[in-house]
Amino acid sequence: MEYVTLNNGVKMPMLGYGVYQVTNDECERCVLDAIGAGYRAIDTAQAYGNEEAVGSAMKKSGVPREELFVTTKVWISNAGYEAAKASIEASLKKLQTEYIDLMLIHQPFGDYYGTYRAMEEAYKAGVLRAIGVSNFYPDRLIDLCQFVEVTPAVNQVETHVFQQQQTAHEYMKKYGVQHESWGPFAEGRKDFFTNPVLTEIGEKYGKSSAQTALRFLLQSDVVVIPKTTHRDRMEQNLDVFDFTLNDEDMAAIRALDEGESLFFSHYDPATVEMLTGMGKTRKV
Ligand SMILES: NC(=O)c1ccc[n+]([C@@H]2O[C@H](COP(=O)([O-])OP(=O)(O)OC[C@H]3O[C@@H](n4cnc5c(N)ncnc54)[C@H](OP(=O)(O)O)[C@@H]3O)[C@@H](O)[C@H]2O)c1
Repeated sequence: MEYVTLNNGVKMPMLGYGVYQVTNDECERCVLDAIGAGYRAIDTAQAYGNEEAVGSAMKKSGVPREELFVTTKVWISNAGYEAAKASIEASLKKLQTEYIDLMLIHQPFGDYYGTYRAMEEAYKAGVLRAIGVSNFYPDRLIDLCQFVEVTPAVNQVETHVFQQQQTAHEYMKKYGVQHESWGPFAEGRKDFFTNPVLTEIGEKYGKSSAQTALRFLLQSDVVVIPKTTHRDRMEQNLDVFDFTLNDEDMAAIRALDEGESLFFSHYDPATVEMLTGMGKTRKV
């Protein structure tokens, strides 16, 4: 496993396991499989409804807590200082842990400055080892970085070969924020796993298109958290540290970038209405 040192000195695995859309019922088995396969970082969120299962799996795995790196995220319905503070306590309980390695603001909506203050407080108390954000595109990220005490350590945004976030990446670098990808396979959209460029490059190294795509992100200084419920794919997705894409491969994959979201753009008013609406109606 390779690690990145975050802006506060905390070491984070460059590759972890994401549990979005993994039901609470199957999540414990999945996380146990992932830890068994060698994953040491798990990415969950209050809104995924599976923090308890992640916590149980971490306990049952027998792996010492300090070897694991768990990320969770404050949902919009918990935005604001008081609600966020209570939600950090709730996440700690559900995850059955004394501390959380990385806590992110899930979406840049609602009183996220209040949320961030609650996270800064918990960070200073040692309950959160690192704090950061998710879905903060350059406008919101720069604003936040300018007015908070603790610079976000991580920004998790949609990032895959078709939406590489090259401009956002430059601004994250400028402010010392680690870029983390969500949806490294674009959830399989656009025939991701049979993409000819990824497939052909992968064949040269005896790797799949999935492995080639992850390798491309890792070599672009992007942390990845692929999701799968299948043990063999967990192993495959982790087996990406024994080959290196050359400059020509990197350029060919760089050229797949369409610079647009395959899901929803945070600059689109309809997206903002959809997500803020969910934040109001979906209490977690
Ligand atoms: N912050 C945010 O707003 C946000 C948003 C979305 C996601 N995330 C995080 O990012 C993580 C990853 O993103 P994601 O879950 O949306 O999608 P993803 O990792 O891009 O794609 C997951 C899909 O790829 C399939 N898959 C995985 N490995 C494969 C392989 N080697 N070969 C073929 N198919 C494979 C999975 O199927 P099977 O499961 O059937 O194998 C699943 O359908 C999430 O789990 C979550 O932790 C965060």
